[in-house]
Amino acid sequence: MEKLKKRSWAEPFKIKSVELLKMTSREERQKALTEAGYNTFLLKSEDVYIDLLTDSGTNAMSDRQWAGLMLGDEAYAGSKNFYHLEENVQKYYGYQYLVPTHQGRGAEHIISKILIKPGNYIPGNMYFTTTRLHQELAGGTFVDVIIDEAHDPENLHPFKGNVDLQKLEDLIKKVGADKIPYISVAATVNMAGGQPISIENLRQVRALCTRHGIKVVLDATRAVENAYFIKVREKGYAKKSIAEILKEICSYTDAATMSAKKDLLVNIGGFLALNDYEVFEEARNMVVVYEGLHTYGGLAGRDMEAMAIGIEEAVQEDHIRARIGQVEYVGEKLLSIGIPIVKPVGGHAIFLNAKQFLPHLKHLEFPAQTLAAELYLESGIRSMERGIVSAGRSKETGDHYYPKLELVRLTFPRRVYTQAHCDVTAEAVEAVYEYRSKIKGLKMVYEPKYLRFFQARFEKLG
Ligand code: F0G
Repeated sequence: MEKLKKRSWAEPFKIKSVELLKMTSREERQKALTEAGYNTFLLKSEDVYIDLLTDSGTNAMSDRQWAGLMLGDEAYAGSKNFYHLEENVQKYYGYQYLVPTHQGRGAEHIISKILIKPGNYIPGNMYFTTTRLHQELAGGTFVDVIIDEAHDPENLHPFKGNVDLQKLEDLIKKVGADKIPYISVAATVNMAGGQPISIENLRQVRALCTRHGIKVVLDATRAVENAYFIKVREKGYAKKSIAEILKEICSYTDAATMSAKKDLLVNIGGFLALNDYEVFEEARNMVVVYEGLHTYGGLAGRDMEAMAIGIEEAVQEDHIRARIGQVEYVGEKLLSIGIPIVKPVGGHAIFLNAKQFLPHLKHLEFPAQTLAAELYLESGIRSMERGIVSAGRSKETGDHYYPKLELVRLTFPRRVYTQAHCDVTAEAVEAVYEYRSKIKGLKMVYEPKYLRFFQARFEKLG
């Protein structure tokens, strides 16, 4: 018998309950796609086979989390689940004060309203859709200060989420530190392809901001995934635990907004965590207006309990290695058959480079939107556009933003799909790649005012 060369790892869980999937025919999918205006956000979940739209709120909870739901204390005020959550946020993230919110954008709304004055500038390591919109709605202007490498899908920089300190200094010189209430630092950077920021860079950002009296606000949505990349890529961190690295990341920042629907393995939830008491007081007051009382922030007690338990599970080494390992597995498969994807493979998703995949399409024929629609038609797999549609329009000129990255995101929910689903996914992408030159673009026929990618509608050209 031939000897096996390599020892594999497998998912560090076994399956206790299953959800059955519906298989569809190409004709059924064409009908569903036309009805959805070629927008994967408008498909019915029932018509989807493997759902890689997002890793947001789509995670499988553990038996401990499900048991935690039964411990929900649904008191209007002072639920014990709030105090459990507060304790774990303090213990694992290190911030002193907690304001729960229904999800990430609830926290973004509150912090933007408190810290941003009209005419302010908010630098960030690439934009995120909801984060930037809340900054703009508060009267601010977002300025991208991520390193140039992040805009190049081929560049192999290990920390493509890093802030370009020169760009940040130039902005401070140009507009003055008093016009910059904070820098918004994401770990990992979703729109760059799930790319991490290094501890070294974070330290430098902290030092520069301290010198100028600028706050640092972390988007901690996928900070556990970022901690994993630091562990495997940054000198001096190989022996540190994920929990230690997570806490160190947060220690360089003044506050964090959190969409718990990602790292924290739940279906709903978020929070704003802070160290500054005065800002906390304002946030605690404001949350009552927009979300709910400050001890539930729009969540049920049971949701806070699931989050509190999720924090403990998220930092387990076996979990995070398998979570990112699964994404790497698909990435390596696609690279081995020559599919153009963003490199290095990021934490939560594979990003297909639609510009290279469909080079015959013009930018305003929406290559990424087209490719996401085509992948669904071919296989029933749902992905998401992350290109010109997601980028939206400039509020000054009204013209589209033309992002350098025109991507399709295949996003992996945590603990949901098996390796066989991964194989089927890679084969489906390969099948579309084989007939790529025959694929025609789209035209936009309906465009909503805010976050248009969610509800825009398209028709097939030609
Ligand atoms: N920040 C990042 C980095 C995100 O990825 C998201 C959501 C948010 C903030 C907003 O959080 O959805 O809980 O209000 N990202 C989802 C996604 C929608 O599919 O990437 P939310």
